[in-house]
Amino acid sequence: MAVIMNGKLLSNKIKQEIREEINFLEIKPGLAVIIVGNDPSSQIYVKGKIKDCNECGIKSFEFSLNHNSKEEDILKLIDELNNREDIHGIICQLPLPEGINQQHIIQAISPEKDVDCFHFENLGRVINGNYGFLPCTPQGVMYMLDYYNITITGKHVVIVNHSNIVGKPQAMLLTNRDATVSIAHKATYALSSLTRLADILITAVGKKNFIKQHMVKPGAVVIDVAIGRDNEGKIYGDVAFDEVLEVCSHITPVPGGIGLMTRAMLMRNTLIAAKRALGYDYSTIVRQDDNKPILASKSFSKNY
Ligand code: GUN
Repeated sequence: MAVIMNGKLLSNKIKQEIREEINFLEIKPGLAVIIVGNDPSSQIYVKGKIKDCNECGIKSFEFSLNHNSKEEDILKLIDELNNREDIHGIICQLPLPEGINQQHIIQAISPEKDVDCFHFENLGRVINGNYGFLPCTPQGVMYMLDYYNITITGKHVVIVNHSNIVGKPQAMLLTNRDATVSIAHKATYALSSLTRLADILITAVGKKNFIKQHMVKPGAVVIDVAIGRDNEGKIYGDVAFDEVLEVCSHITPVPGGIGLMTRAMLMRNTLIAAKRALGYDYSTIVRQDDNKPILASKSFSKNY
């Protein structure tokens, strides 16, 4: 019987460790969350992030901008937030309304406060294996794999997603740990024959029951990053869970899997941003020998 990887348990453990670490800090970390317009899914996500801040002892600042806001209004706000000492992390919830250039907004956030790790400077560090921040979802996946002692070195990982937020940085983190990585997408020929080669299959497509049993190698680890919502608001992932459960060795549920890990990693990045603003060297936060992201309790220990 496959192991169901428990994102609720692990994210709660990480948030508890972050809270304990914050109790030792001279200041309270601050996270600014910008939301433009009234996209219902974005509003739910932002609510969740603010709840996490409260649980961790991070001060949250929500900035809700009108749907008709102009690019320069958002840029002006970001400029103010970049210069505020009580704000250590800034995120702008995506997607943005039509007419606003997403990259202009993301690249305006100071790299030191870019806790989503979307800025080119931070993504460049990820490629280099010289981590500033780690992008939240890929980092959450690595934490999950490490927590369940899944070997990464030498494994073939297939990622069905090639976005800048998930697929590409995920491939970098895995490659930096000596996995062999294939990235699949909508133009990939004979997808199931590729996914069947995966020791670890990571999927983020957004289609219910997209990954079926015949696409999974017996004994594979299956990580479902997708979060879709049906007409009744019920959350679903990509994986036909019940049938894949019968063949895989480990699987993440949706909900209760990687979504919660992503949120916990945002809290972790915000704590790191605050610690760096206080003068901590991030080499005390990320282990340098194998670049392996490590559990918060170790990474945040004062004498690590
Ligand atoms: N929209 C969907 N996922 C994300 C995320 O991780 N960060 C931001 N800023 N917006 C998102």
